[in-house]
Amino acid sequence: MTEIGLYYGSTMGNTKDAAVQIRTAFGTDIVKVASIAGATAEDLNHFDVLILGTSTWGFGDWQDDWAAFQRELAQVDWSCKTVALFGLGDQYGYPDTFVDAMGLLHDVVAARGAQVVGVWEGQGYDFESSCAHRDGRFVGLALDADNQSEMTGARIREWVQGLRGELGL
Ligand SMILES: Cc1cc2nc3c(=O)[nH]c(=O)nc-3n(C[C@H](O)[C@H](O)[C@H](O)COP(=O)(O)O)c2cc1C
Repeated sequence: MTEIGLYYGSTMGNTKDAAVQIRTAFGTDIVKVASIAGATAEDLNHFDVLILGTSTWGFGDWQDDWAAFQRELAQVDWSCKTVALFGLGDQYGYPDTFVDAMGLLHDVVAARGAQVVGVWEGQGYDFESSCAHRDGRFVGLALDADNQSEMTGARIREWVQGLRGELGL
């Protein structure tokens, strides 16, 4: 059975909560969840399929744990990995940088050869600009626990269903 590694960076716990919900939607036996804080490149290299989650801080900046992981990020062999992304942000508080860190993370792994799946065409957002939003779609699942927490469960279920199809699970 395919084993999926889910690594998240979370400052206040919102991305961690979403990670747990994603694991539940997949089935706990398939997805192994861990914080990126304290993880190593070797840990990530253990998995062929990874789900990476991050919140956005500053104005469109990396979440702290992902910022600290940059050196390790370069040590992962992305060329043989399938990667799905999810990002937490605040579309009303930060409408010009909504979930930007997901876009930053996407660009690093894509440039290093990862096959990115889980592009998200979900609707119902209200923001000005996001570097994670390209050609009308997000590079991964965008979640807003600050303003749209009531939509999180349904968004996760729909995204995971699509991901299961893409991964042939
Ligand atoms: C100081 C500060 C800066 C933030 N900057 C951004 C931002 O640039 N873009 C965005 O979409 N969200 C931004 N946010 C919102 C967080 O990403 C959001 O609250 C997220 O759910 C936090 O997740 P976490 O608890 O997993 O870290 C910011 C929040 C704070 C408090």
